[in-house]
Amino acid sequence: MKPILIAANWKMHKTLSEGQELTSTLINWLRRQKTSELQIILLPSFIHLTAIHSLLASDLPLALGAQNCHDKASGAFTGEVSSAMLASAGVQYVLVGHSERRGVYQEDHEVLAAKVDAALAEGIRPIFCCGEPSHERTQHTHEAYIVKQLEKSLLHLSPAQLAQVIIAYEPVWAIGTGHIPDADAIAAMQKSIRAVIARRYTPSLAEDVRLLYGGSCNAQNVQSFLAIEGVDGVLVGNASVQAKDFLPLLEAVL
Ligand code: 13P
Repeated sequence: MKPILIAANWKMHKTLSEGQELTSTLINWLRRQKTSELQIILLPSFIHLTAIHSLLASDLPLALGAQNCHDKASGAFTGEVSSAMLASAGVQYVLVGHSERRGVYQEDHEVLAAKVDAALAEGIRPIFCCGEPSHERTQHTHEAYIVKQLEKSLLHLSPAQLAQVIIAYEPVWAIGTGHIPDADAIAAMQKSIRAVIARRYTPSLAEDVRLLYGGSCNAQNVQSFLAIEGVDGVLVGNASVQAKDFLPLLEAVL
């Protein structure tokens, strides 16, 4: 059995001491559970990566990820962070294509494809986010919308590279809103994503790729997402920022 992936996107929350405290609380909780069913990925802000990394222990299913990386390997890009810098700080995963990056920072398909390449070049596994805005769903164009996001930024990869990518389906309208798609809608989208991969690559690669659901996931509903066929884990925002929300979510998974 592959472990269930729980990725905690702290977004622009938490000071250094708050992030360290939550990480220590999680470590103590994991030591008590002795579980091999979970793999937790913490996604703190860039500035806290090194400090959080120094708390992690290799015997625990707790890994470090970043929320973003630059699309170029290096250069005169003031204020930016390269994937080589991330790798040197112990980062194993990076979010690419989160809807807040696509929307607020206007990141397009091409730059996201380059970020995926940049991460893989440094041995970092991209967590590639896709998801439709609400009008695409009301117009029943959501599936084509997601397929295009995959086509334009992911499907240029070799099979070996794609096997390193985790795909997170996060409908834009479900993020931070408390509105969530029903289970059939999530299952249908996970199926479409795997079908695209099966057509372009192989059915076995499509089956092996890890797919997450994200959007208003919390302790009360996490089990219902994980019960959906094809969902290998969840990408959690708000409910991952405080121990009082995140520990009950983890306990609900076990
Ligand atoms: P919420 O869990 O706050 O809806 O955020 C989801 C998300 O954007 C995770 O990347």
